[in-house]
Amino acid sequence: MAEQPLLLLSGLTKRYGTALAVCDVRADIRRGELVSFVGPSGCGKTTLLRIVGGFVRPDAGRVVLDGEDLGPLPPNQRATAMVFQNYALFPHLTVAENVGYGLTIRRRPAAEVARRVEELLSLVQLQGLGRRRPSQLSGGQQQRVALARALSLQPKVLLLDEPLSNLDANLRVQMRTEITRLQRALHQTIVFVTHDQEEAMSISDRIMVMDRGRILQAGAPAEIYERPASRFVARFIGAANFLDGTLGNGIPGRTAIATSLGTLIVEKVSNGLAIGDRVAVLLRPEAIRLGPPDGPAEPNRLLGTIAHAMYTGAVIRYTVEVGDTLLRVDLSDPRHRPAFHRGDRVSLRLPGDPHLLPSESAADAGGS
Ligand SMILES: Nc1ncnc2c1ncn2[C@@H]1O[C@H](COP(=O)(O)OP(=O)(O)O)[C@@H](O)[C@H]1O
Ligand SMILES: [Mg+2]
Repeated sequence: MAEQPLLLLSGLTKRYGTALAVCDVRADIRRGELVSFVGPSGCGKTTLLRIVGGFVRPDAGRVVLDGEDLGPLPPNQRATAMVFQNYALFPHLTVAENVGYGLTIRRRPAAEVARRVEELLSLVQLQGLGRRRPSQLSGGQQQRVALARALSLQPKVLLLDEPLSNLDANLRVQMRTEITRLQRALHQTIVFVTHDQEEAMSISDRIMVMDRGRILQAGAPAEIYERPASRFVARFIGAANFLDGTLGNGIPGRTAIATSLGTLIVEKVSNGLAIGDRVAVLLRPEAIRLGPPDGPAEPNRLLGTIAHAMYTGAVIRYTVEVGDTLLRVDLSDPRHRPAFHRGDRVSLRLPGDPHLLPSESAADAGGS
């Protein structure tokens, strides 16, 4: 039998007036797992996290932690700890007093508090800074104090609400590693909330993509990126080109898809699709290869014109005009490959194994 989930969310729903902030959210999170809820601003991430932490009462649904229905238990009686987006440190207390706050109000002996605070400060790499005030620390250091404070009572689940969004770009990336290091070192279960899909992809064991209060898809990062369930998910997690087409007969073992840009030959199609079905073909920008325009006509090879080129250092992002369709194509490692310029004629080689969405679910089921 599979291991019982540590945290079980079922049917969670929360309305503010007529607005549905969270709608029938269900999820199970395993011990030691880092799960991210990711979605655009306003999709209900903070509300969901606050429900789990006991700061918001849901209209319906349950939060079960380690077999116990948390019901209306207040935050300080739950084995959860939350780090808020703005850290919410006590400005008049020292770093050590902030970190030891939860232990002190639980009347643990001073010597034990001091020892735990030292351990926690070294865990988040702030040794020696215990006597400072939060205002004397950088944003990244304040973030670590908030983490240490949240870990002080050894929560079964650590709840992080966009913990990195106030940090500058390099530090954000560095703190991703810090968080996964803490996760592993403590075997800490973490629920992480962010609007930043790349951040979610890079730290999570599993991602739950949300829109308008609902979970649209849950899965490992690679699964969501490679097999998104809808156009919204495909576009939110990465960049996506879509070609609409109809499945036809191919040569044995292959399938032809008639699209506005010509026939695409793909390997066998799965997920219950049949000849005649309308599909949306997902083409990720890095899966399309650009080359010179000459050479023989081949299947899955198109001709186009570079409409725009954007140099970003590691990648050149091209917009290529093919007929009246614009395709985004990324070229990595531009120093070692031929670069193209606006107006250049190019060939595009499309992948033979693209992900296909049935047209029903391909229609934007909500989403901006
Ligand atoms: N206390 C509140 N009162 C009224 N509406 C709220 C409140 N908190 C959140 N909302 C609304 O609920 C929706 C979800 O908000 P939130 O959970 O903060 O989203 P996210 O964290 O994903 O940006 C938004 O439409 C927001 O305006
Ligand atoms: Mg939020």
